[in-house]
Amino acid sequence: MDVVIIGSGNVAHHLALALTKINQPALQIFARNERDLKAIAQAAAIPYSTFELKKADLYLICVSDRSIQAASEWITDPDALVAHTSGSMPMESLKGPYRKACFYPLQTFSKKKELDFKSIPIFLECEFNKDYEALTSLAKALSNSVESADYEKRKYIHLTAVFACNFVNHLYARAKEISDSQNLSFDYFRPLMEETLEKTRYLDPKQAQTGPAVRNDTRVLQLHEAILQTPQQRKLYQTLNESIEEMYRPKKD
Ligand SMILES: NC(=O)c1ccc[n+]([C@@H]2O[C@H](COP(=O)([O-])OP(=O)(O)OC[C@H]3O[C@@H](n4cnc5c(N)ncnc54)[C@H](OP(=O)(O)O)[C@@H]3O)[C@@H](O)[C@H]2O)c1
Repeated sequence: MDVVIIGSGNVAHHLALALTKINQPALQIFARNERDLKAIAQAAAIPYSTFELKKADLYLICVSDRSIQAASEWITDPDALVAHTSGSMPMESLKGPYRKACFYPLQTFSKKKELDFKSIPIFLECEFNKDYEALTSLAKALSNSVESADYEKRKYIHLTAVFACNFVNHLYARAKEISDSQNLSFDYFRPLMEETLEKTRYLDPKQAQTGPAVRNDTRVLQLHEAILQTPQQRKLYQTLNESIEEMYRPKKD
C-alpha cells in the first residue's frame, strides 16, 4: 500500500518513523513547512515535497484539527483512501471525491520523545466496509492493538484521554511551578508520580485516592490554600478538592 503522510507535526513525525521501522516507508511526506518536513524526511529516509502531492493508495492527514478540511481539499484522486488522525473530528470533515476514513492513534506524541508504536492503540473508522481490510492490515503492522471506533465512540475515547493525559500533565506542570518556586527538586516527586500510575493497574482509581480532600482534613486544606501563590493555583486546588469531596460524599437515599 503506497502511503503519503500530510503534515510535519508530532503525529506526522512518529507515523513516518514507525512506517519506515516496519519496512513500509511512506512514499512521500507532504506539508508547507519545509524545515520541519526535511527533518522528518531525513529521519525516516523518505522523500518530501511542499508543492507536488504524489499519487498514493492512502493519504494520512496529520494536520491540526482546524486545518483538516483545508488539507483534505488538496486531494482530488477519486481512487484514493484518505484518513485523518484526529480523535475529535468526524470523518465527514474530509472534503473530496475519495473514500474517507479515520486512523486515530491513542497516544501523546511529541517529536522529542521516542515511542514504541507497537503498544499504541489505533482506532479505525472507514466510510466503506471494503477499506477496513487494508487499513487494518497496515495498522496491525504498526501496532498490537487495533480496533474499529466510529465518531460516537472516538469522541469519548478522546475526552477520556484529555482527563487521563492532558489534565494530569497540566497538574505536573503546576506541581513543578510550586516545587521550582521553593527550589525543591522535581525528582523528589518522580517515585510518587510513577506509583500513582502503577497503582491504577491493581486498583480502580476511585479506590486508590489518598490526600486531605478524601480524608476531609480541613486543617491541611486551609493550610494549603493559605500558602498557594497564585489565584490560578488556588482555583485549581479548590475545584479538584470539590470534585474529590463530591465523589466520596456518602450518597443520601
Ligand atoms: N499530538 C498528539 O498527541 C495527537 C495524538 C493523537 C491524534 N492527534 C491528532 O493528529 C493531528 C495532528 O496533530 P499533531 O499533534 O501532530 O499537530 P502539530 O504537531 O501541532 O502539527 C500540526 C501540523 O498541521 C500543519 N498545519 C496546520 N495548519 C495548516 C494549514 N492550514 N495548512 C497546512 N498545514 C497546516 C502544521 O504545519 P505548519 O508547521 O506549517 O503550521 C503541522 O504540520 C490532529 O488532528 C490531532 O488531533 C494528535
